[in-house]
Amino acid sequence: MVCCASVTADRVLIVDDDDLILKALSRILESAGYDPRCYLSPDQALAALETDQPVVVISDYMMPGMDGITLLKQIRERVPGAVRILCTAAEDFRVALQAVNSGEVFRIISKPWHQQELLATVNQAAEASRLRRENERLNGENQRQNAQLREINLRLEEMVRHRTQALLEGLIAALDYRDAETQWHSRRVSLYARRLAQAMGMHEPELTTIEHGALLHDIGKIGVRDRVLLKPGPLDSEEWTEMKRHPELGWALLQRVDYLRPASTIVLQHQEKWDGTGYPSGLKGEEIVVGARIFHVVDTLDAMTSDRPYRKAKPFTEARAEITRCAGTQFDPRVSEAFLSVAAEDWERIRLDVETVAVLSADLAESPPGHDELFSALHGALRN
Ligand SMILES: [Fe+2]
Repeated sequence: MVCCASVTADRVLIVDDDDLILKALSRILESAGYDPRCYLSPDQALAALETDQPVVVISDYMMPGMDGITLLKQIRERVPGAVRILCTAAEDFRVALQAVNSGEVFRIISKPWHQQELLATVNQAAEASRLRRENERLNGENQRQNAQLREINLRLEEMVRHRTQALLEGLIAALDYRDAETQWHSRRVSLYARRLAQAMGMHEPELTTIEHGALLHDIGKIGVRDRVLLKPGPLDSEEWTEMKRHPELGWALLQRVDYLRPASTIVLQHQEKWDGTGYPSGLKGEEIVVGARIFHVVDTLDAMTSDRPYRKAKPFTEARAEITRCAGTQFDPRVSEAFLSVAAEDWERIRLDVETVAVLSADLAESPPGHDELFSALHGALRN
């Protein structure tokens, strides 16, 4: 049974089995600017609940079929935003108070009511409902904005990742123009270095830093003159001095690129040796960053297991024996130990994968983007 309606006023649902009470409450609330909807039984009220979407519900306690507290519980489940008031005679007051204390009911209106108190209670309930809805709206807004921010961040990260990859490809390609043997060596050692760092229990972002450091270790050779870099015979001492500047040149180059700067120390120290016999600074032991110590081991692995102009590739077991033999002198013993803990097939798989990409990209030499995509795909596969 619907008493009256107003489009903009707050809707109040009233349930009471006494028609006179229903009419009296309705009159008071309507004159106070509310939009009352009146029902003589809980069933009728429940049937119209979703359509009515009340802001406030006032229910009698004692009704045939269902008491007011049970009705208000059901209403809470279906329209959680509605603030619930129990209207009760003095004899039911104790039960009603328990319902208030347990949070089932917002306030009690006693019968007979005092009109000012009744309106004050309904006003408070309507205000509570408004605040609740406003809160929900702001929460929803926040969640939407957070989701948008997350989305934007993901897109930015993806863009940065693409650009980083493109820059790395460009740098390696630039070095490759000068010294054609470097490219696949750099790619292999970068993936070996990541694998070895994983075996040492390292995580991101260190893994990526080590990978970048290994990939770009010889990038400073761009700054070494052709007649030194490409000289077929042995270098004289002046030429050797120039060649030994490549770690510092590479370090200086990486200083200019924010996201490559963490890898610059690896580049600077990639020719240092655990026993202090390396260059440019003759650093010893843990004075050398762990990324450079890792690089040193995988560089030896790759040098020994790759074909050279003056000799054929050696089997993996020989490289393994050399890394074992030089643990504690050339190599950090902890890094050597981690290297030995990785199955030979893992190293072999990385080498074969890079070789496959090298062969395919030679076929695709006319279309460089295909080449980059191939390598990115391989790279992604190895990371997973
Ligand atoms: Fe080098």
